[in-house]
Amino acid sequence: MGDAANLQPEDLLRSTERVTDLNVVPTPGHSEDMFSEPHEFVRLRQHPGPVPVVTMAGHRAWLFVRHADVKAICADRRIGRSHANPEGAPRLWSAALMHARPGPANEMVDHERWRAVFGPTFSARSIELRERQVRARLDELLDDVVKRGTTADLSSELARPFALAVISDVIGLPLADRPLFAAWSDEMRHLRRREAAMATSAVVSERLDQLLDHKRQHSCDDLLSQVGTLAAQGAPLTRLQLIDGLKSIFLAGFDTVASRMEYGILYLFASSAGAASAVPEASKMPLMVEELIRTVVPGGSWIPRYALADVEYGATRIRRGDLVVLALQGANRDPAVFDEADTFRPDRSPNPHLGFGYGKFYCLGASLARLQLRIFFPTLFARLPGMALSPDCDPEVDIDSATGGLSRLMVTWSGSRYPQQ
Ligand code: HEM
Repeated sequence: MGDAANLQPEDLLRSTERVTDLNVVPTPGHSEDMFSEPHEFVRLRQHPGPVPVVTMAGHRAWLFVRHADVKAICADRRIGRSHANPEGAPRLWSAALMHARPGPANEMVDHERWRAVFGPTFSARSIELRERQVRARLDELLDDVVKRGTTADLSSELARPFALAVISDVIGLPLADRPLFAAWSDEMRHLRRREAAMATSAVVSERLDQLLDHKRQHSCDDLLSQVGTLAAQGAPLTRLQLIDGLKSIFLAGFDTVASRMEYGILYLFASSAGAASAVPEASKMPLMVEELIRTVVPGGSWIPRYALADVEYGATRIRRGDLVVLALQGANRDPAVFDEADTFRPDRSPNPHLGFGYGKFYCLGASLARLQLRIFFPTLFARLPGMALSPDCDPEVDIDSATGGLSRLMVTWSGSRYPQQ
């Protein structure tokens, strides 16, 4: 790999950072630390240019931490997601997410076609039309939660089922498949079980393939039906690319949203104003959602990329095929861009965070994620009056997951209200 190639392994260990050591999530049990950035990022931002690192998979990579650098890399067409040898490419982690794609000859053309096929379903206009359905999903789940008593695990009983229902509705997953897809997603995100993760990824592809055939006979208003029709009519993408696209959308659209809901609750409870008062009025919710996306970074928010050509960044030469890792967490707390970068300010504006990425790979589901988060917090506090973290609340961080999140978040409340019509 580029300039780091001359280093001996022992030098490398001394002179590079280990991404594992940097993978610091806020410690939910210690609310005074929740908003602080890991010191490593503060230090790494002083370092000019990319930092040579060893990834969680034990491979060498170049890490970018500053806001300006991360943005520049996102906009750079010489840095992409494909590799001439995907199986042998350096990896960020063992999870079956965001691994190298075959290429790089057609990467950008294929990607533009991919966005053209899947983009319209997730446009701001299409997502607006789903608001009623999304609200109904949350209300149904809250109805069940209040029927069960006055205490609940917000992670397993609300945030995850809500995010699962919404993305499954959009894709058109049958009800019986949804718990299976949720379990498959957990397996694919696992940081230390590579073979199981890859085997599960193949199972998911097989099931999506079957569902595409099924939807051709039973077409309805969902993404699987649209993609099934396209596949039959000769889409600009291969069937494999279409299936991979559906898989990415499910994986990218499930835990990402659930984990922001979970951490968002912790952030609100850490507010000195009190959690319920910290939820702003409806017109200000979009600002709070952006601030959550900026500050909440379960799992560190690492984005892997590959150099598609030899590239020079300042004094550093990055060679074709090298792994490049973008630390969104570092970029979103960069004091060169954000005043009081460690402070959660629900009314921050402007807020040029990179939490949904930037440029050609900008999050396809940003409008859907924003809609869910905008609805989730006010509805929750309105329907569960007096909600508080359970006295024995000890939120557990899912440290084995590439996307982070909490595996438990117990709350109690004093009464319940019906949904507002
Ligand atoms: C709060 C929740 C979410 C966050 C923080 C988030 C974050 C991101 C980020 C940072 C990227 C850029 C990755 C890169 O540059 O390589 C991305 C891409 C993507 N996201 Fe999201 N995302 C969220 C929710 C969703 C949802 C609900 C969907 C459902 C459709 C989704 C689908 C995607 C897809 C398909 C891509 C790849 C886009 C492409 O390759 O052009 N995301 N997301």
